[in-house]
Amino acid sequence: MRPLFFFTLILILSVVTLARGKNIPFPKDFVFGTATAAYQIEGAAREGGRGPSIWDYFSHIPGKTFKDATGDIACDHYHRLEEDVKLMVSMGLKYYRMSISWSRLLPDGTIDNINQQGIDHYNKEIDILLKNGITPFVTLYHWDLPLNLHIKYGGWLNKEASMKHFGDYADLCFKSFGDRVKNWITFNEAWCASIHGYLNGSQAPGRCSKCKPEQGDSDREPYQAAHSMILSHAVAVDIYLNKYKKTQKGSIGMTMNSGWGEPLTNKPEDQDAAQRLMEFQLGWFADPIFRGDYPLSMRRQAGNLLPQFTQAEKQLLIKSKSDFFGLNHYSTLYVSARTNVSSGYYAHMNATTTPYRDGKPIGERADSTWLWVVPWGIRKIVNWVYDRYQIKIYITENGCDVPNEDKLPFDQIINDTFRVNYLQGYLNAVSEAIHQDKVPVVGYFVWSFMDNFEWADGYAKRFGIHHVDYVKNNTRTPKKSAKWYSELIKQ
Ligand code: NOJ
Repeated sequence: MRPLFFFTLILILSVVTLARGKNIPFPKDFVFGTATAAYQIEGAAREGGRGPSIWDYFSHIPGKTFKDATGDIACDHYHRLEEDVKLMVSMGLKYYRMSISWSRLLPDGTIDNINQQGIDHYNKEIDILLKNGITPFVTLYHWDLPLNLHIKYGGWLNKEASMKHFGDYADLCFKSFGDRVKNWITFNEAWCASIHGYLNGSQAPGRCSKCKPEQGDSDREPYQAAHSMILSHAVAVDIYLNKYKKTQKGSIGMTMNSGWGEPLTNKPEDQDAAQRLMEFQLGWFADPIFRGDYPLSMRRQAGNLLPQFTQAEKQLLIKSKSDFFGLNHYSTLYVSARTNVSSGYYAHMNATTTPYRDGKPIGERADSTWLWVVPWGIRKIVNWVYDRYQIKIYITENGCDVPNEDKLPFDQIINDTFRVNYLQGYLNAVSEAIHQDKVPVVGYFVWSFMDNFEWADGYAKRFGIHHVDYVKNNTRTPKKSAKWYSELIKQ
């Protein structure tokens, strides 16, 4: 009688768990986290000795962001460290990806002016996290370049100044926090910073010669900016390996972003276009970092617009070995071979994307126009990354906003079944990549821990698993997805 009773109980329990989708198998030591970035959540833009960044400047230009939103206050995380960490603890979170505001540590971007209040602030944050059993993953650059570096030296367009100042800043971070921070990410999505910052101008510093001819050269600048970021990454890794790694024993890498490009048809030209898109998106950064130079397809198509690495720079790239591949992935599109752009990056890529095949969408659309829910895409992209670079992978961001979320009443916003389904689908696909394809994905971070300043979209798009009430005192409320993720983590 008894064994039968227990057997039935276990059966019922496992069916219930299955139905609620929490029993996705993951290795025991798999890192489950959530992610945020300084400018998107901190606020306190003019407090604690912080200097202005290109995002402070850009978001204050009328018309640049939705409803002219800025990160001046954001989620007020700067003043609510304790409260936010408590929330993390309540959901059983053990890993948290955050970024450091460069101009909070170095208000004018240079090592000549260190802001002790900034150091104290991040010491406090790191200590609170660790005291509560949460391991920080720290990004050094999540798009908020100190404004002075942009104005005085030309920002990312100045390779030498970038390498020097980013190197100094990284060194200061390793020296100040590296006794406790063991996971470093140099750059977040350098692709976005290069394309949106220097080609279409939709993000800071907003350069776009096609919109305003006096603003430089959009055909060349994204390549130049990316070149500086790649080399600045290498400088930071080199400093870490030479001065800190032995004693601090941490790991370091870069976070790159890409959707998956699925060929629209099986015609060779569409297959080639899809491969080219992946090389222009991920290979642009990952090939130099892991293989010492740009992909051949880029060199062939972009010619002299793409800078060359000198011999010394190639050596620097090769010796500054990253420990992991950080991948931000959200969406998948079909790719075919043609483009109607006449010059520059997209003309060189010579590939066009669409969410439709035979009139049918590739998946459901989230709220952001670029975000289609395609769980199988994440399995394909981690396979692509591992085949090409043979390195362990952290998914450093994945998540979604919910259709019309901003227009829904509060109780519906926090009942975000759409997001739960998204996370469940993508995590299932990651689990398949690990177990069936043997791809070493070692961690996963949901974007985002809470709703926040979504760059040019202001506060209209909500990616958080915690709701933030921007009208009523920035109150945080866990959404259904926070509870779902919490149960997954605990399990
Ligand atoms: C990528 C970026 O790293 C992050 O800052 C942004 O908010 C999310 N994706 C969502 O768009």
